[in-house]
Amino acid sequence: MRFTHEKIETQLPWLVILVILVISVGGLVEIVPLFFQESTTSPLPGMKPYTALQLEGRDIYIREGCVGCHSQMIRPFRAETERYGHYSVAAESVWDHPFLWGSKRTGPDLARVGERYSDDWHKAHLNNPRDVVPESNMPGYPFLSEATLDGVITPSKMRALRQVGVPYNEEDIAGATAAVAGKTEQEALIAYLQGLGLGLKGVN
Ligand code: HEC
Repeated sequence: MRFTHEKIETQLPWLVILVILVISVGGLVEIVPLFFQESTTSPLPGMKPYTALQLEGRDIYIREGCVGCHSQMIRPFRAETERYGHYSVAAESVWDHPFLWGSKRTGPDLARVGERYSDDWHKAHLNNPRDVVPESNMPGYPFLSEATLDGVITPSKMRALRQVGVPYNEEDIAGATAAVAGKTEQEALIAYLQGLGLGLKGVN
């Protein structure tokens, strides 16, 4: 049987099978190498995993749904790099499980917000955004300053992350509970925000 365009296009099963085949091969060729390529699987030089407190802060960021309004993915467009800094690279996210790139920008991208503001600014902003940005429509999170962390399960979280390749050592894990216990959820969240995107800060 000779495959002509007309035959394929008039016989639906063949069309479906061949389309699936083409897309699969295309997908494999484009996607699979990314799992093995150095530039997408190794961290930036000098990058450190989140501290115990930052890790708890990240979980609060997830719990509160901040990702629903904030992306952490600067695209390589001039309008974005001039506003936020160097575009995001895969190496920055190799230890993020799950990644929080997001796709909704009701608020600004936060991929490089680390050290852009003081801790006091973040405190005021999280308690009531309108105190520092009058036109803001971000909700306030004043309750985060009243909730205290006990750090009981922080070591387990770190052990779980170690299973998927985050290089925590025994010392980090042993000290995790003490590093977190007694801190407020707000302090943890601010520690997380202040660490975001520092690896490529100032590089443009
Ligand atoms: C309903 C959408 C919404 C949600 C949910 C939200 N934000 Fe925002 N956020 C905004 C908007 C809009 C702005 C810009 C105005 C401002 O600075 O308040 C903003 C600004 C910010 C900024 C300042 C960024 C900059 O570069 O100036 C930070 C930091 C921030 N948000 C953190 C958070 C965190 C942490 C959470 C979760 C606890 C959160 N946001 C949840 C909408 C939101």
